[in-house]
Amino acid sequence: MKITVVGAGAVGATCADNIARRELAEEVVLLDIKEGLSEGKALDMFQTAALCGFDTKIVGSTNDYSKTAGSDVVVITSGLPRKPGMTREELIGTNANIVKGVTENILKYSPDTIIIIVSNPMDTMTYLSLKTSGLSKNRIIGMGGILDSARFKTYLSLAMDCPPNDIHGTVVGGHGDTTMIPLTRLATRNGVPVSQFLDAETLQKVAADTMVGGATLTKLIGTSAWYAPGAAVAALVESIVRDQKHIFPCCVSLDGEYGQSDICLGVPVVIGRSGWEQIIDYKLNEEEQAAFNKSADAVRSMNSVLSTLDLGI
Ligand code: 2OP
Repeated sequence: MKITVVGAGAVGATCADNIARRELAEEVVLLDIKEGLSEGKALDMFQTAALCGFDTKIVGSTNDYSKTAGSDVVVITSGLPRKPGMTREELIGTNANIVKGVTENILKYSPDTIIIIVSNPMDTMTYLSLKTSGLSKNRIIGMGGILDSARFKTYLSLAMDCPPNDIHGTVVGGHGDTTMIPLTRLATRNGVPVSQFLDAETLQKVAADTMVGGATLTKLIGTSAWYAPGAAVAALVESIVRDQKHIFPCCVSLDGEYGQSDICLGVPVVIGRSGWEQIIDYKLNEEEQAAFNKSADAVRSMNSVLSTLDLGI
């Protein structure tokens, strides 16, 4: 198995480090445009192999896509991260060109790969990569909901003073501060609805904190988070390369599911060796469906910005 991570910034490097330590591939290639950055980070990471007991080979490449040839999975993290006070959507002008170019370059050497999009605004970048690549829709997966759900579970665990791993919780919709939808109705602690442990006001605060979970960290750190995004990508990659069939909330192309079409948006999907394999209907109630439709409208309006950029699509 060969996995490429494009973008050797904090998020990309953490993705590569997680993938290597979990031995999800024989080879991980880390690529960046900045001279020497990916070679340096790859070598530093590879020097942990003898300490951490993994055998994954880690290679860096400064913008030489031939090194990525034959990648089974490619993770695209390249582009600007947001700064405090910015929304993910404000990055579209810069990141759209980058993501389109990276998609085109990757496919020259790995025409059958599975692409995972992390770059923001992620829902729109996923849609752009799908349109650019011409790959089957099952091979283009946006990673946002897994990360948002991890934050949702963390805030629930803090509110209930229990281990995050005792909690099941899902966030669907867009990967935006105002577009994501934490499904508090369906969240459980060891199979028991969380509403048995937390009152409605607390649950609303947990949902609100989840929605701005990324912005909260950006305000504290001064840039986008990287530990949880990197771990979320690795969980998604593992379900692909080991064909685990986990159900994860991922940004995928909808064709009528959840009442939406011609859009990429976060829904629960089965993840296996061929990419996303099945969209699962969580049977949203009226309020949740209304929120989902509103989220779709916001993402669709972001997608329409693509036609105003000189992308040639
Ligand atoms: C986040 O929410 C980077 O969008 C990612 O942290």
